[in-house]
Amino acid sequence: MTETLSSDRDKLLAAARAAAAHAWAPYSHFRVGAAVAVDTAEGQRVVTGANVENASYGLTLCAERAALSAACQLGAPGERPPISAVAVVGLDAQPGECMPCGACRQWLAELAPDAEYYVEGVAETLHLDDLLPRRFTLKE
Ligand code: THU
Repeated sequence: MTETLSSDRDKLLAAARAAAAHAWAPYSHFRVGAAVAVDTAEGQRVVTGANVENASYGLTLCAERAALSAACQLGAPGERPPISAVAVVGLDAQPGECMPCGACRQWLAELAPDAEYYVEGVAETLHLDDLLPRRFTLKE
């Protein structure tokens, strides 16, 4: 078991918080930021994303999926990006309220199955089994 320094958690949450300020959320006014730590051959990189809403509501992109798609650019071509941690912050949320939605959990299952998850206002470090037990997967 590896021990996470609380500063790693705090830094990733701070990156997610900064990203949330760039959300485009004129309809819900609920700004979300996500930060993803990727362990590349050159060291750890952090990519971020924020929610991007659309006047056609169903086309809204969540912060987590924005950040995960950016993380795919950092892995080796054709390989799942080596994501070690994901942080989520809701700027307009009550502490602990901004949990990843169901669709994002399925994306996280695809791309960050072994990550540690930090959600602002949730003291524990979460894992995918906490977020999406008995999940759907396909053999690659
Ligand atoms: N949202 C996210 O960005 N991530 C989630 O996991 C939950 C919801 C966004 C979508 C929408 O722009 C706003 O929060 C309100 O649902």
